[in-house]
Amino acid sequence: MTPAGARSEPAPEPELKHGHGEALLSLEAVTRTYQVGDTQVRALDGVTLTIRRGEFVALMGPSGSGKSTLLNVIGCLDRPSDGRYVLDGTPVENLTEPELAAVRRRLIGFVFQAYHLVPRMTAARNVELPLVLAGMEPRERAARVREMLARVGLTPRARHRPDQLSGGERQRVAIARAMAPGPSLLLADEPTGNLDSRTGDEIIDVLARLHEAGLTIVMVTHDPRMGARAERTLRMRDGRILGDETVPGSPPTGGTTERAPPAGPPPGAGGGR
Ligand SMILES: Nc1ncnc2c1ncn2[C@@H]1O[C@H](COP(=O)(O)OP(=O)(O)OP(=O)(O)O)[C@@H](O)[C@H]1O
Ligand SMILES: [Mg+2]
Repeated sequence: MTPAGARSEPAPEPELKHGHGEALLSLEAVTRTYQVGDTQVRALDGVTLTIRRGEFVALMGPSGSGKSTLLNVIGCLDRPSDGRYVLDGTPVENLTEPELAAVRRRLIGFVFQAYHLVPRMTAARNVELPLVLAGMEPRERAARVREMLARVGLTPRARHRPDQLSGGERQRVAIARAMAPGPSLLLADEPTGNLDSRTGDEIIDVLARLHEAGLTIVMVTHDPRMGARAERTLRMRDGRILGDETVPGSPPTGGTTERAPPAGPPPGAGGGR
């Protein structure tokens, strides 16, 4: 598999949505420590992990086990204290803050438990916001917003503000917003955490459809039912990955089944190469 070793390989051209099965990102012996007073917290304690293009990964584990920290490192919102992280062929540790932000904008979409929509803006304006920031032309923006709202089934709610939407609808707006710039990787931190189970299922359906269309997804969840919808489950405890299971050929909404079987060595087996 990917020997995230001494050299950085030439960056694969960002032909997004293609190249299924190649490594999109790999971490090697990543730690993240926080200093609080005179105590050191090891939020990540030697994480080695490869995620391939097109995977749908659930990240599970008890509270405080490091799930959000790992997601934030993967999403370049945070940096490792030690270890290597290569995203889309780029070793992240060599990047300046502005370069890191550019990588994040180009490659990554985020969805959070609490939606984080702008309250006074309509659903459409919320989805449009990252496109405005990216400098997209108004006409192109409008078309993209319509397309994104349609993809999450919210065309009839385009003019609603967040307080005029249900929780599930808000989260679908948040997903549409995250997807609008065309990321390769969607990171979701407990996207169904505020929702009842039926509405949570609808959100996972939306994610599953995006996955089937080629998106790579990493989703933190506490809910085993939601986790079971992913094709690969990583289990964390005390800042380490203790379990990594792939369910071969189990597309969550019963669509195409052309998954490669788990090809890599089991993680945590030391020197996985
Ligand atoms: N900014 C920070 N400063 C200090 N310690 C932190 C910080 N962020 C997280 N931690 C600590 O790092 C550990 C991992 O936190 P993290 O938020 O990643 O856990 P989690 O698995 O997402 O938990 P939850 O399921 O409750 O969201 C915890 O012990 C937490 O207290
Ligand atoms: Mg968390």
